Amino acid sequence: MGLIRETDFGTPGRKGEAVTLEIDGIAVTVSEGTSVMRAAMEAGVKVPSLCATDTLEAFGSCRLCLVEIDGRKGTPASCTTPVAPGMKVSTHTKRLADLRRGVMELYISDHPLDCLTCAANGDCELQDMAGAVGLREVRYGYDGANHFDAPKDESNPYFTFDPAKCILCSRCVRACDEVQGTFALTLDGRGFGSKISPGGFDDFLGSECVSCGACVQACPTATLTEKSVIEMGQPERSVLTTCAYCGVGCSFKAEMQGNEVVRMVPYKDGGANEGHACVKGRFAWGYAVHQDRVLKPLIRERITDPWREVSWDEAIAYTAGRFRAIQEKYGRGAIGGITSSRCTNEEVYVVQKMIRAAFGNNNVDTCARVCHSPTGYGLKQTFGTSAGTQDFRSVDGADVIMVIGANPTDGHPVFASRMKRRLRQGARLIVVDPRRIDLVNAPHMPKALHLPVRPGGNVALINAIAHVVVTEGLVNEAFVRERCEGDSFARWAAFIAEPRNAPEALEEATGVSALLVREAARVYATGGNGAIYYGLGVTEHSQGSTMVMGLANLAMATGNIGRDGVGVNPLRGQNNVQGSCDMGSFPHELPGYRHISDDAARGLFEKVWGVTIEPEPGLRIPNMMAAALDGSFRAIFIQGEDLAQSEPNTKNVYDALQAMDCVVVLDLFLNETSGLAHVFLPGTSFLKKDGTFTNAERRINRVRPVMPSKTGLDEWEVACRLAAALGYPMSYPNASAIMDEIASLTPTFSGVSFETLDRLGSVQWPCNDAAPEGTPIMHLDGFVRGKGRFVVTEFVPTPERATRLFPLILTTGRILSQYNVGAQTRRTENVIWHPEDLLEIHPHDAEERGVSSGDRVMVASRKGSTTLRALITDRMPQGVIYTTFHHPITEINFVTTELSDWATNCPEYKVTAVQVTRTNQQVDAEAAE
Ligand code: SF4
Ligand code: SF4
Ligand code: SF4
Ligand code: FES
Repeated sequence: MGLIRETDFGTPGRKGEAVTLEIDGIAVTVSEGTSVMRAAMEAGVKVPSLCATDTLEAFGSCRLCLVEIDGRKGTPASCTTPVAPGMKVSTHTKRLADLRRGVMELYISDHPLDCLTCAANGDCELQDMAGAVGLREVRYGYDGANHFDAPKDESNPYFTFDPAKCILCSRCVRACDEVQGTFALTLDGRGFGSKISPGGFDDFLGSECVSCGACVQACPTATLTEKSVIEMGQPERSVLTTCAYCGVGCSFKAEMQGNEVVRMVPYKDGGANEGHACVKGRFAWGYAVHQDRVLKPLIRERITDPWREVSWDEAIAYTAGRFRAIQEKYGRGAIGGITSSRCTNEEVYVVQKMIRAAFGNNNVDTCARVCHSPTGYGLKQTFGTSAGTQDFRSVDGADVIMVIGANPTDGHPVFASRMKRRLRQGARLIVVDPRRIDLVNAPHMPKALHLPVRPGGNVALINAIAHVVVTEGLVNEAFVRERCEGDSFARWAAFIAEPRNAPEALEEATGVSALLVREAARVYATGGNGAIYYGLGVTEHSQGSTMVMGLANLAMATGNIGRDGVGVNPLRGQNNVQGSCDMGSFPHELPGYRHISDDAARGLFEKVWGVTIEPEPGLRIPNMMAAALDGSFRAIFIQGEDLAQSEPNTKNVYDALQAMDCVVVLDLFLNETSGLAHVFLPGTSFLKKDGTFTNAERRINRVRPVMPSKTGLDEWEVACRLAAALGYPMSYPNASAIMDEIASLTPTFSGVSFETLDRLGSVQWPCNDAAPEGTPIMHLDGFVRGKGRFVVTEFVPTPERATRLFPLILTTGRILSQYNVGAQTRRTENVIWHPEDLLEIHPHDAEERGVSSGDRVMVASRKGSTTLRALITDRMPQGVIYTTFHHPITEINFVTTELSDWATNCPEYKVTAVQVTRTNQQVDAEAAE
């Protein structure tokens, strides 16, 4: 396949009454409000243009798109002229051709004539337009004043800015404002002195720019160009695939030269991202082909031995031999495995199948245990299914957006851009987070109502908000009567109305003034469509599941479920958290969230798989670690998860892994966990995977191999080969056949196939006979479980509290440029923005401890300690400190505790009582180097 070039209609589409007009004699019908330019394009007529593109509102500056309209004077710009019924438009007349040539002449007279050696040669709209208008000479010559010597800005690691080539069309400025919502660029000066500037800063790198690349994509010339294109030249073919970073699941065109990626361009038809991307997906893909990748299997007898490179046959036989010996000696339940939320649905499915069918037990868990397992539990209890309720597009219809324990501009940037657009249109924003995240004061939108909840106080806060709703008569009685269980509502309402749940009574627990809580409750309950978006700041608590149910209760009580613009939406961390959970990665659930004890469901799998499946749930990750320490759990297969870095209470995990006889790691890079492993099996990066990811909105997207694998085996084949070596034959001709099996066994997936996905682009499950093209919004006419169920959410404070010895509370989060434990992003140029994790601390707390920004500080909890560099900032409330966990050296999980969610064991990463002291320990070490 060659390059995919999407049609540019010039201006955005509109919705409205149909309007029929005539363009160059062709009748065309479009929605009212559509521009003449777009109508022409829809009629198959391309009007020359430079400043217009259909991802941005029309600007009308280049004067190239002039047209003639019967009965109107002059030559209006077609991009800014809306259609009218019966309008007759001419787009190509002699008069227009002369005018357009004149405009182009002016542009070209101040443009370097280096087309043949320009990086954009062949992909430059200025070049195309010069040809389209028939420009043959420039009467003014090239000797006048010009901008040819304007210095280039090469500060950004991924793109250059060469102002000599700029035509001041302002597409970059508008892309940054309208699409990204960062407002980093300005068009400064007047006339000849006009120039694009990174907001008055010296260069892009030092500016507000977040390197999303929207301006680069929008630029019609070579002014803003990817460095990879400058180095490698223009791509020659495209492959559609999906980003492997966060749960937004952006679709991309991987643009290739042979088997080399030249650039990743977000796909306009991508349902999740509609042509936008962030710095990670667009630029930070280099890790996938990084020299650190391990491409051959490695084995060793003891973890103190050096690795030995072996063939796949030897590695599989060796692993199977050790697993079999362990099971013979210690029993079938002595081994287990962990699936990865970074892998495809198909890869995850075969690993859980290998464990249930070949290991013969249900000791399978997933890294989602440590992030969104409470979402699965909480939403299933209340709504009946373990997934968010809306598609991302739904936020366009929200009037009040409540963001709880999430930092979308850093964690889910493309969705954040969409959300900010809605906020700029006037939706209200409530932010519940201890930290003043960027959304609170984002440019060009009203200030958010910020509730700086004390870490550990979430359930108290949601109860207090619900108390206001119930006691002030803000319940949507009709919705509750029709859609919810009456008795569960009555129980919940009586509980929540108790005075102990009043905002005033819970002020101490929430840390938020009762007045603010009451205001937020009223805004959410009465402000129109209320949409809740939440993240790990909700789930990673000892009451994570309770809080998820609290959110569901609130949404049901106010009738904010089952239509556009509302809902309860988990923002998933990793690319396939939703999918890995859907695929039966939890010890108690088969694919499609069917309980392992359900005889009918189990029977279905037993029949197709040809084995007997244990009816009892297996071990969760913490149980596996505990069993390893007591000697009953001896071996583990770990798919794409750096357990030793990402689990809490790291020392415990190290001890547990060291106690095992055989640790098998399937991953891209050697990591902390592989340091304790006996077998390392090389995984495939997303650029080589064939399969599907499911994003936070339940959207199943295709991941397509853009280059051949260098490891010799697809990841799903590794699990098949290991299962077969253990005596359970398992094989598939391709990944598509795995999806066919998933679909045949999972009612919510029964309409899904690679063919469906290739045809529709993507689908959101449930996708079956009832919804052959998927389900963007769930619970429309009724909840999946029938009636919505209210659950009493008693606030139980975490035992982890600030004390005299540990007076501060540590909470954690992530930063835009880095991802998870950093294994990928640290192997890209993104390190320029975040070379180390910093400890954010309030000025008062810092002053009390004699700490200045840049000082090394020791963070100590009752579990352990680590050292970090301090950053003093008033975005933190007093008494709370914050850090990220993207660098292994940070070792923050040596500090976090063993506490976890009561229902799911999701670790309580967000609340650790600590002390902070200045230390010169590390500084001395640095000085000695
Ligand atoms: S890269 Fe993104 S944030 Fe930076 S200037 Fe361009 S559009 Fe704005
Ligand atoms: S940098 Fe590109 S997009 Fe921006 S004004 Fe110049 S030519 Fe237009
Ligand atoms: S928002 Fe998420 S999925 Fe989209 S490009 Fe960025 S990291 Fe990838
Ligand atoms: S494209 Fe219409 S004025 Fe530039």
